Amino acid sequence: MDDVRAARTRAKWDKAASTLDFLSSRGAERRWAPYKEDLFSAMDGRILFVAVGTGLDIQFFPPGKDICGIDISPRMLGRAAPRAAAYDGDMAVKEMDVHALTFDDHTFDQVYTSCTFCSVPDPVDGLREIRRVLKPGGQLRMFEHTGSRYFPFNLVLNMMTPLVRRFGPDLNRTTVRNVARAGFDVVEVQHRYLDVVKTILAVAPLSDDPAEASPEAEDTNDVEAGASGDVPGTDESADGPEDQHDVAPGG
Ligand SMILES: C[S@@+](CC[C@H](N)C(=O)[O-])C[C@H]1O[C@@H](n2cnc3c(N)ncnc32)[C@H](O)[C@@H]1O
Repeated sequence: MDDVRAARTRAKWDKAASTLDFLSSRGAERRWAPYKEDLFSAMDGRILFVAVGTGLDIQFFPPGKDICGIDISPRMLGRAAPRAAAYDGDMAVKEMDVHALTFDDHTFDQVYTSCTFCSVPDPVDGLREIRRVLKPGGQLRMFEHTGSRYFPFNLVLNMMTPLVRRFGPDLNRTTVRNVARAGFDVVEVQHRYLDVVKTILAVAPLSDDPAEASPEAEDTNDVEAGASGDVPGTDESADGPEDQHDVAPGG
C-alpha cells in the first residue's frame, strides 16, 4: 500500500519536474523572496529540508549551514543537484519519502518545508515522521499555501483541487491544523497573502508520547473554512483570520 502510494507520488512529481521552474517563474520568486529569506535566516544546527524539488529555494539559504534536502522524485533531485553543489555550505540531496524517513529518531535541530505539505499525499503521517526525526524542542519552519476560510477563495480552491491534484498540489489543505494533529506545538502563523500563503513555526514537544497526536488525524483535506479547533500554543483558531500575525493582502 505504502509502496503503491510512493510509486504514484514519484511518477506524478517526476512528470512535473520539467515545468516546475517555469511555473515558479521569476515573478513568483520575487514576490515570495523576502518571506523565504526571513524564514531561512533562522537556519541553525543540523537541518532537514523537505521537499527540495528542483532546488529553487537554495538561493535563499544563508551560507555555511549543514543541510540535507530530500525529495521523493529523482527527476526533481536531478535538477536540484547542481544547485545544491553550488551552495556555499554543506548540502546533500537524497531521494526519500517523507512518510518513511530513513533517519534515526531525534536527528535534526530544525526541519524546513516550502510548498511541501500541499503535495505530500498523507500530510499528518508525513508531519509525524518529521516530528520523529526532530530533536525534542526542535523547530519546524514552513512556507506553505493552504485553503482559505473566505468566500469566494474557499469555493474556488475547493473546486480546483480535484483537477489540479492530478498533476500538481492540493489547493485546500489545512496545514496549520495538520501540524497540530501531528503533535507539534504551533507557535506562530504569519499570513503572507490573505489566509492562503503563510509561514508557520512549530516546535516538537519535549515529550515523545505519540498519544499527544489527535485521533482525528485522518481528516486532512478539509477546507480551511471548516477549521475550528484551537491551535495549541496560540490563541488562534487553526488557519483562521484572527491569527495575530496577519499581514495585509499582498503584503
Ligand atoms: C510543489 S513542489 C515544491 C518543491 C520546492 N519545495 C519548491 O518550492 O520549489 C512539491 C515537492 O514535493 C515533493 N513530494 C511530494 N510528495 C513527497 C513525499 N511523499 N516525500 C518527499 N517529497 C515529496 C515533490 O516531488 C515536489 O518536489
